[in-house]
Amino acid sequence: MSAVPTLQPDAQSAASHRDQVEDQLGAHNYHPLDVVIARGSGAWLYDVDGRKYLDCLSAYSAVNQGHCHPRILAAMTEQAQKLTLTSRAFRHDQMAGFYEDLARLTGAHKILPMNSGAEAVETAIKAVRKWGYEVRGVPVNQAEIIVCANNFHGRTLGIVGFSTDPDAYGHYGPFAPGFKIVPFGDYDAFDAAITDRTVAFLVEPIQGEAGVVLPPPGYFTRVRQRCTERGITLILDEIQTGLGRTGKLLAEEHEGIEADVTLIGKALSGGFYPVSAVLSNADVLGVFQPGQHGSTFGGNPLACAVARAALRVLTEEGMIDNAATLGAYFLERLRALPGPVREARGRGLMLAIELEPDAGGARLWCERLQARGLLAKDTHGHTVRLSPPLVVTRDEVDWACDQLAAVLSAA
Ligand SMILES: Cc1ncc(COP(=O)(O)O)c(C=O)c1O
Repeated sequence: MSAVPTLQPDAQSAASHRDQVEDQLGAHNYHPLDVVIARGSGAWLYDVDGRKYLDCLSAYSAVNQGHCHPRILAAMTEQAQKLTLTSRAFRHDQMAGFYEDLARLTGAHKILPMNSGAEAVETAIKAVRKWGYEVRGVPVNQAEIIVCANNFHGRTLGIVGFSTDPDAYGHYGPFAPGFKIVPFGDYDAFDAAITDRTVAFLVEPIQGEAGVVLPPPGYFTRVRQRCTERGITLILDEIQTGLGRTGKLLAEEHEGIEADVTLIGKALSGGFYPVSAVLSNADVLGVFQPGQHGSTFGGNPLACAVARAALRVLTEEGMIDNAATLGAYFLERLRALPGPVREARGRGLMLAIELEPDAGGARLWCERLQARGLLAKDTHGHTVRLSPPLVVTRDEVDWACDQLAAVLSAA
């Protein structure tokens, strides 16, 4: 590696120096809005100059509990002073409580903690393949997993290998075989893709990154039934939809179904720290024996303490009900917006507006909203995602809608 370039601090402007450093030293794998956040509290973010913004992204739903929630902060600080990491080579005193809290809340029979969402997805894929060979009797190395077009399950090589987004998979191959891609929400296509080697169906309850896309009513009931009939493990990726975002603890509750394996992450730590988990209702996680899967940081004491506090805050402070009530209200107001809005959609506080294709692209509208103090994220060209922390108030939702209306009616 050649020498690191020397950066000359710009005497006149710390801001331009900061931009210069980011542009020179940082890989350009993100295209952030031009705002530099220094502080967050509840549903609000504050930039380096003290301007405040309503956060309508919530770090892709990792900050459901609101920024820097004091109870989670207290749990993190307290645990950080006692013990942060043992690795799983030794037991530690925070693990059992974490398992018990999650099991009580979700009904999970087995739990495997990891760190990022993508690791939880990878863990589920490994577990379900192993289960397919050892329990279902599928010929070794022939297991098939059905996934959906326009999925987003993370960024590892294994996962992007079954993405249909060229930005996600382009020039990263060759990829692992064993995945069949079907259109999201199309039951017949799912059914037609099943073979004797199908071990699992991996799917998001609502496709978030694809632009907050909901399946047709009844889709998941039929999928659930078919999975049961064919001995297929239904894996719901609730990393974004889970933990209150859609107005229920898990989005599967809207469909009246139970997944065999549920993946959660993001808000499991309230945005403090990467914590994810695989929750298993069937015997899938039972296939792992010591040494067959793991992570140095997965399930560490700090993560367990933070996650327990994040779950308590979520369930004890009315956030899930708030997401249901205010989500319905927000959606109603989004549907009444003026200007080039083709559709408003979503569930709970996982919402989006899709703009007309000739409206100039969603990024432009996010920049205009930023100028009025609202931070949102464009996705897939014409869609603006709106997913504030679940602590948002009705007044704040009204304020957000006023900003949207002002920006859109000036179109
Ligand atoms: C549905 C879903 N699955 C998995 C992931 C990956 O999570 P992480 O970025 O923590 O790896 C995401 C992240 O946006 C997601 O939305």
